[in-house]
Amino acid sequence: MRPWFDKNCQSCHGSGGSKSGAWSYNSDNYESSIKKHISHLYQDVFVNKSMPPGGLTQAELDQFKTWYDAGYPAK
Ligand code: HEC
Repeated sequence: MRPWFDKNCQSCHGSGGSKSGAWSYNSDNYESSIKKHISHLYQDVFVNKSMPPGGLTQAELDQFKTWYDAGYPAK
């Protein structure tokens, strides 16, 4: 899932990104970037679809959901 987050979230939420204060994404730290915030990420990405601001393709949403349902593995 790392490439997915790198592609869709990194530009704004990566370290040094303008929105890293709202949620900080560090591709090297799965625990603190993803696992700790998983319910919030799920809400924003899949339920409210508020992130990323430009929206996702259906394929990207499906990919996220499949990963989430699998127990959001680190890889
Ligand atoms: C184009 C820039 C941009 C991208 C790309 C982006 N975000 Fe955001 N994000 C923002 C902005 C701006 C805010 C703060 C404003 C707000 O709270 O609505 C924010 C806030 C958040 C927050 C915390 C605040 C809240 O309302 O929940 C989370 C969590 C979040 N983003 C997750 C993500 C995820 C996950 C992705 C990738 C799928 C992503 N964002 C992609 C701009 C972006």
